[in-house]
Amino acid sequence: MRKLPPLMMVAALILAGVSISSALAHKGAHGVVKQRMKAMTRMEKRLRLINMMAQGKAAFDARAVRERATTLRKHARHIPALFPPGTHKHPSEASPGIWQHFNDFRSRAERLSTLAAKLAGATEQTLPTILREVRATCKGCHERYRVERD
Ligand code: HEC
Repeated sequence: MRKLPPLMMVAALILAGVSISSALAHKGAHGVVKQRMKAMTRMEKRLRLINMMAQGKAAFDARAVRERATTLRKHARHIPALFPPGTHKHPSEASPGIWQHFNDFRSRAERLSTLAAKLAGATEQTLPTILREVRATCKGCHERYRVERD
């Protein structure tokens, strides 16, 4: 029992470390790298309320979903243009593999854009499933093309 609090401290420190390192990443970034980090972070934020709706923690609001999904789509369409060749250097977390498989990279961004359009028209019933597909698309691209540095 006594061991639990220190363990939780460690967990808290690890969590804090994660957010500090991503804040630092933002700081060192400029130009197109900074722009895409911002765009990615915005997409994440746009999904927050939708996430809560899907979990039943916020009331379903079709208009709010549509607005957020539309912004998400706009960002998704910009993704390929925000990754000009050779922009993977620190503090970027972009993998050089992006430019070896750019067609695949682009089609993942297109898939996100298509799903965002689907999300815009979601009903309370279809929202959780579409959101899962959206999340899987974020995650799939990150697993392949994002190297998390710390
Ligand atoms: C087509 C590939 C792709 C898709 C789809 C994608 N991402 Fe990313 N994401 C990346 C890459 C690559 C990076 C690293 C960029 C860099 O550091 O230069 C990244 C970075 C991020 C970051 C960190 C930004 C920062 O400040 O360092 C967040 C947050 C993020 N993505 C959220 C999302 C969310 C949410 C989605 C889905 C709605 C998503 N991404 C979809 C490729 C993608």
